[in-house]
Amino acid sequence: MCGIVGYIGEEQAGPILLDGLSKLEYRGYDSAGIAVFDGEKINTHKALGKLRVLYDETEGGNTLKGTCGIGHTRWATHGIPSVRNAHPHMNSDETIAVVHNGIIENYLKLRKKLEGKGYVFNSDTDTEVVAHLLDYYYKGDALKAIATVMQRVEGSYALAILFKDHPSHIYAARKDSPMVIGKGSGENYVASDVPAILRYTRDVFYVENEELVSISKENVRFYNTDLEEVSKECKKVEWDISAAEKGGYEYFMLKEIYDQPKAIKDTMNPRIKDDNIVIEELGMTDEEIRRIDRIYIVACGTAYHTGVAAKYIFEDLARIPVEVDLASEFRYRNPICNAGTMVIVVSQSGETADSLAALRLAKERGLRTLGIVNVVGSSIAREADHVIYTWAGPEIAVASTKAYSTQLIAHYLLAVKFAFVRGMISREEMSGYIREMKELPAQIEMLLAGKEKIQKFANRYIAAKDVFFIGRGLDYAVSLEASLKLKEISYIFSDAYAAGELKHGPISLVEDGTLVVAVLTQDVLVPKMISNMQEVITRGAFVMAITNTEHTEVEKSAQYVLYIPKTCRYFTCSLAIIPLQLFAYYISLGKGLDVDKPRNLAKSVTVE
Ligand code: G6P
Repeated sequence: MCGIVGYIGEEQAGPILLDGLSKLEYRGYDSAGIAVFDGEKINTHKALGKLRVLYDETEGGNTLKGTCGIGHTRWATHGIPSVRNAHPHMNSDETIAVVHNGIIENYLKLRKKLEGKGYVFNSDTDTEVVAHLLDYYYKGDALKAIATVMQRVEGSYALAILFKDHPSHIYAARKDSPMVIGKGSGENYVASDVPAILRYTRDVFYVENEELVSISKENVRFYNTDLEEVSKECKKVEWDISAAEKGGYEYFMLKEIYDQPKAIKDTMNPRIKDDNIVIEELGMTDEEIRRIDRIYIVACGTAYHTGVAAKYIFEDLARIPVEVDLASEFRYRNPICNAGTMVIVVSQSGETADSLAALRLAKERGLRTLGIVNVVGSSIAREADHVIYTWAGPEIAVASTKAYSTQLIAHYLLAVKFAFVRGMISREEMSGYIREMKELPAQIEMLLAGKEKIQKFANRYIAAKDVFFIGRGLDYAVSLEASLKLKEISYIFSDAYAAGELKHGPISLVEDGTLVVAVLTQDVLVPKMISNMQEVITRGAFVMAITNTEHTEVEKSAQYVLYIPKTCRYFTCSLAIIPLQLFAYYISLGKGLDVDKPRNLAKSVTVE
């Protein structure tokens, strides 16, 4: 999510840190900061906004003297973008400086504990607990303190740390957040991403999960959490800078498709505690949740499609009537509302003009509003009464993928929680849903591993004129998103239909060879879908079906079948969308189009 860079050697660290951070700019960020050890103390400088601000304020990094330092670009998760929330974070006597990528899931508990011991916090971040915890456990041995902190914190982290007592070292540690060490001659580097150090070295060590690193200008030593030294092989980076920015993937869209297992874990894990769903930021008592009698889900584009899916889930599971509305429609109609109405606005950017206007309308009507937003501190996040952040990290490709997947997770968490609080499901049922949800990241990884098969199939349809997607229930919801993905980046006309509607018009468009993608993951609807597939096959269509491994009978009614793992019926969109994202991607790639920046589209639509 954020970017980390560290340097120790003979050169002045400040300019190298800023240069490294500038190579991470493509990822998007909201603030930046550096900490440099000047031989006596650790000096920090942080700035809000573009790196240019930090650059100007520190005269290119030169005002902070010293040859050992760490830097950070922040993509806000906990706490709005501001100077006080920017990294590095320090302990109170400024002897320890920390930069962090990832999310410390139990930070609130740790913060309370530390505050009880007299620690004073200067930011709203999860990261600051690491600085104070290190202070608490530090008794002269930096590695020991870090290893102890690693046992106390839950979540994901890549950490780079300076200790005033150890001026010739940078320390690092990681769990579930990437980190590399760059090897130089008489100097060494640490970074969250290869591009930050590529200008200086191509020799890198990849830090593994739950490893600690001690870096001096001459040496790099790796340890496991028992502080036993681990030997490691140095690797040569062969990528050029543009491939490195994309983590070795050809396009950001593919990288972001592959980011999805981690992104959904980041959205889900912090909100699942002891087999319970705890959404602290929801700010609603159980009594208030019970009083909701209508939900409007309002959004645009991909975010709207997550709302279409959520409607089925909220209504079936929590028995709350849900209306899903395009923000551009909602804002100009006169929605019927009462005190029990809740409006959920879903937006990756948090800046979409229509979604923001819809939110404002809901607030004018005095309705309870909730944002499901990715960009922390964005307009929708600021103005909604409450906000659930999706923590998907920066999404760069115009075609949304990981935002979609994480928004779905936010809906699942809410729907299951509401269902439980309203007495619609038992504790055991809730545990069952949580279990199934936790399986999703590994199931998505399995689907991603089958990408070649999808690429081969996609290559056959590069010249397609039009493609239809059909499904029922949640499969209709996922068809809408799959169709949008395809048309956005391939420029092939495509549309999605509720399969039962085929006979009422769209079937007249089916001719010899027309590709129809049928999604059928809802057990009770499979027979109905099979009939619809037969109808189009009779008219010459080629049917590609997506179903789960329990419905092999589908092979008789489709020319090509892709299987997704079995999950609970409410969560199937999370799996069915994966091959369809890849399908759209490979068609666009095969046509030689600019996958990440399709014509006429913008990532964030801030005008009406
Ligand atoms: C644009 C983007 C879509 C996105 C939609 C809503 O059209 O190209 O990918 O789904 O805006 O954006 P939001 O930031 O509100 O989710």
